[in-house]
Amino acid sequence: MFSFFSRKERLSATGLLNGLVDIHAHLLPGVDDGVATMEESVRTLSALAGMGIRRMYLTSHVMDTTDAGYKAYYREQFEALKAVCPEGVEIRLAAEYMLDMGFAARREEGLLAMSGGHVLVETSYMAPPPDFIELLYEVVLDGYHPIVAHPERYMYMGDRDYRELKEKGCRLQLNILSLSGLYGRRAEEVARRLLKEGYYDHVGTDIHQLEKFQKALETITLHKTERQELERLVRNNDGLW
Ligand SMILES: [Fe+2]
Repeated sequence: MFSFFSRKERLSATGLLNGLVDIHAHLLPGVDDGVATMEESVRTLSALAGMGIRRMYLTSHVMDTTDAGYKAYYREQFEALKAVCPEGVEIRLAAEYMLDMGFAARREEGLLAMSGGHVLVETSYMAPPPDFIELLYEVVLDGYHPIVAHPERYMYMGDRDYRELKEKGCRLQLNILSLSGLYGRRAEEVARRLLKEGYYDHVGTDIHQLEKFQKALETITLHKTERQELERLVRNNDGLW
């Protein structure tokens, strides 16, 4: 039955992503499970620009299997991409750090951070790292501000974890495609609840592949409160540029 209060609108019709600073993207070619070639990166950046997303942090994965010389290699790839970047598109280099056994060494040599020292971090989907909260505290002591990527996707996290992360000053980043069900029904339900309850600070695309991204994005519908919250997150992202 039609109900005024359950009316939803398509995200793609809201223009909400127009002007978004994307803080989570795997568009540095050939370095992780994101785009593979320079041509694909350029094509994807052009398509995103057409949707109004023209400022992007490129946040390639860094995990314990990533080469020790990753920073030099990522910078090299970044400069090469920058040289052919579509007009009107601004890209910056950051990274998405897995909090695993290799992370301590990465920290010691300095992290690829966003402006203001904000660092995107993730954990395994199944289990938290040992001493998760202490680890985040150490990152803060180093002068960084951790942003936990896609908390809705971690199977081990519950309300107590979300609250604790927020209480400890961590910021939380919603993956926009979690609202499409791309990562499963649980991730979508958690994402919509955390969104409505105001847990998130930022939003990112976590884009790996253009067509998959566009297809999933097209299916997203929003309630009014979800839309209002998303608007707040989009504004918050501006502060990271
Ligand atoms: Fe990611």
